[in-house]
Amino acid sequence: MGHAAATVCRRRRRLIPVFRPPTPSTGGRAPARDALLEVRAATAADLAALLGIEDACFPTDRMSQRSLRRMLASGNATLVAHRGGEAIGYCCVLFRRGGTAARLYSIAVHPDHAGRGAGTLLLAAAEDAARAAGCRALRLEVRARDAFAVAWYTRAGYRPVADLPRYYADGAPARRLAKPLPAAPSTARGPEAKDA
Ligand SMILES: CC(C)(COP(=O)(O)OP(=O)(O)OC[C@H]1O[C@@H](n2cnc3c(N)ncnc32)[C@H](O)[C@@H]1OP(=O)(O)O)[C@@H](O)C(=O)NCCC(=O)NCCS
Repeated sequence: MGHAAATVCRRRRRLIPVFRPPTPSTGGRAPARDALLEVRAATAADLAALLGIEDACFPTDRMSQRSLRRMLASGNATLVAHRGGEAIGYCCVLFRRGGTAARLYSIAVHPDHAGRGAGTLLLAAAEDAARAAGCRALRLEVRARDAFAVAWYTRAGYRPVADLPRYYADGAPARRLAKPLPAAPSTARGPEAKDA
């Protein structure tokens, strides 16, 4: 898949987990295209599978085992999509204490499973996690020249808010996109603010 190896939406910076959201629920809002496809919170037992997805999806700027392990142990949300028990994709959503916007740090679906709805389900679950944490928007960075990814996010309701020249390690520009998130029925902020 041409686009699969071309996009990295994460920014190269140290992660500072500050907030522990409730376990996200997709609540059946995002229709899965097959009955076996589900999203749940990732655990340390998913580490090897997530590393395999990283390797398959990203030629550069991969999350290392250490960063993934730290992400899993942090107060941020790491969600895994699985089909019939096999982890096929994941996403990471970062929260900042007091912040009103969450950040989609990474999202990837193994190329063998792309185009079958897992990415859309993960994106919806990321939005659910952001809402559940009391955030009013989800933002992300995407390679500006990755027409597939930009179009994919645009179809999902994301709009450009900034252009970031020379954002990536290879000097490529990014586009920052954001989507407003309507308030969740329960306006409760997550269970507790937590230092890393
Ligand atoms: C971007 C990505 C997460 C999308 O995941 P996905 O599971 O393929 O997404 P979906 O199946 O939900 O949606 C893909 C869309 O492209 C369409 N599509 C068509 N041909 C496709 C193909 N060969 N592969 C993937 N999608 C294809 C699908 O029909 C679908 O259309 P829709 O949005 O109108 O329904 C995934 O392609 C990926 O991991 N890419 C590599 C990493 C990456 O680029 N991450 C994003 C960083 S910003």
